[in-house]
Amino acid sequence: MGERRFDGKVALVTGGNSGIGLAVAQGLVDEGARVVIVGRNAETVARSAADLGAAARGVVADTSRLADLDRVIVATREFGGGRLDVLFANAGVGTFGPLAATTEAMWDTTFDINVKGVYFTVQKSVELMQAGGAIVLNASVAAGKGNPGSSVYGASKAAVRSFGRTIAAELVGRGIRVNVVSPGPIETPIFDRTKAPPQQVAEIKAAMLARNPMKRFGTTDEVTAAVLFLASDAASFITGVDLLVDGGVGSF
Ligand SMILES: NC(=O)c1ccc[n+]([C@@H]2O[C@H](COP(=O)([O-])OP(=O)(O)OC[C@H]3O[C@@H](n4cnc5c(N)ncnc54)[C@H](OP(=O)(O)O)[C@@H]3O)[C@@H](O)[C@H]2O)c1
Repeated sequence: MGERRFDGKVALVTGGNSGIGLAVAQGLVDEGARVVIVGRNAETVARSAADLGAAARGVVADTSRLADLDRVIVATREFGGGRLDVLFANAGVGTFGPLAATTEAMWDTTFDINVKGVYFTVQKSVELMQAGGAIVLNASVAAGKGNPGSSVYGASKAAVRSFGRTIAAELVGRGIRVNVVSPGPIETPIFDRTKAPPQQVAEIKAAMLARNPMKRFGTTDEVTAAVLFLASDAASFITGVDLLVDGGVGSF
């Protein structure tokens, strides 16, 4: 049996029905937490919650809608007996394509989900948190890079990195830590879900691979290890940081 850093704790993971969010939800359950997962797809939310077992509850909601977020908080309060210790604000979408191909709809969807949704997820979750709470926001190494094809996505993640710092400063007096994790390319369904033509997506993925110092994509387990560390008491003196989990691509 491994570590159990989250025994008795309650966690909320948005986008917990796929990819990085699902891996983090699994990691939290494995280490003793009770976890609420959120996603829009009712089928995958139900399946993922069932796979995670009795310690998990699925809520179908769109994090870019504030009324949906209110429902998430009500469900979390009920499931967690009024407490919330860990928030992983992870729900996000990838929007890839060059400047000329960007539409207003792509811009609005990306910023509604990746920026507004994450921001208000934090605002509303904090109501349930006590001293000792930990928030981790999922940004991306793309926030600080000039990757062709990632202008809208990168800008949305730069916003997350920015308000992560400010909210950390606002909440430090309440004993709540706020940190950001910035993954590099990670093998998840996100790329196949983007609306860009498959050929363009394949080219973007190939370029990411070529640029990465480790010459590979990371795994969801590698991101989970970082998120669980930041969410755990082992990181008790860490707030306001941006932890790159990226094979080095953001640093050199
Ligand atoms: N994979 C990478 O290379 C990489 C790198 C850096 C950062 N990230 C970030 O990691 C996060 C997770 O992505 P992933 O790679 O794990 O991709 P993924 O498998 O596509 O997961 C995205 C998750 O977000 C949920 N989601 C999206 N929009 C939502 C909304 N409006 N309301 C509620 N849930 C929503 C999705 O569920 P539904 O579709 O059911 O709503 C899904 O569970 C994203 O923020 C992404 O930007 C990924």
